[in-house]
Amino acid sequence: MEQKHFWNDKFGKVDYLYGLDPNAFIKSKLELMKSKKEVLCLGEGEGRNAIFLAKEGFEVTAIDASDIGLDKLKYRANDECLNIHCINMDLNNWNDEKKYDVIIATYLHMFEEDRNSLFNKIENNLNKGGYFIAEFFSKEQLNYKSGGPKALDLLYDLSDFENVFTSCKKDITKEIVHLDEGIGHQGEASVIRVVVNKQ
Ligand SMILES: C[S@@+](CC[C@H](N)C(=O)[O-])C[C@H]1O[C@@H](n2cnc3c(N)ncnc32)[C@H](O)[C@@H]1O
Repeated sequence: MEQKHFWNDKFGKVDYLYGLDPNAFIKSKLELMKSKKEVLCLGEGEGRNAIFLAKEGFEVTAIDASDIGLDKLKYRANDECLNIHCINMDLNNWNDEKKYDVIIATYLHMFEEDRNSLFNKIENNLNKGGYFIAEFFSKEQLNYKSGGPKALDLLYDLSDFENVFTSCKKDITKEIVHLDEGIGHQGEASVIRVVVNKQ
């Protein structure tokens, strides 16, 4: 099933699947982003990170395959008088050359074979000094019941980052964390946390 239909189905069934608050790792990196202006959120879904970052004063663009997810983002943005630019598209078709100061992603379950190409595009679309900050479920997440796909090719490993982001400083770790994100992510989880700084 296409990502769009899969996620439209999920987001159409509940209120806000991952809650209203931003992802804790993204929030913890706010200080790093403070001097930056334009942020791109990839696979932003219902918009919890985009709303948080727009409230913090960033110029935010959000891309997602799910129009239902983005409609929920737009509803919140409208309610809170925030201006967030939304683009409804599959990231495998993302060819825009526009550059950003910060690019973020949380739980963007890209297929293994599509990752290198996406990571290369992210590197190209970052301004010098810019950051890519992300959190993904690791392959060990199969041993936990806190959420995420049950398919290995949608889960990540440290090796996914070995031969990419070659023009960047990389701080990439695998960690056990406690998730409290709506009904979608609850409990102990194995994640890969990524901070990449383009030189
Ligand atoms: C687990 S949800 C996470 C949503 C959001 N980042 C969050 O943490 O609340 C995964 C999101 O990635 C989006 N997504 C997955 N594959 C995608 C693709 N190839 N192109 C665009 N969006 C995609 C889905 O539509 C969905 O909104």
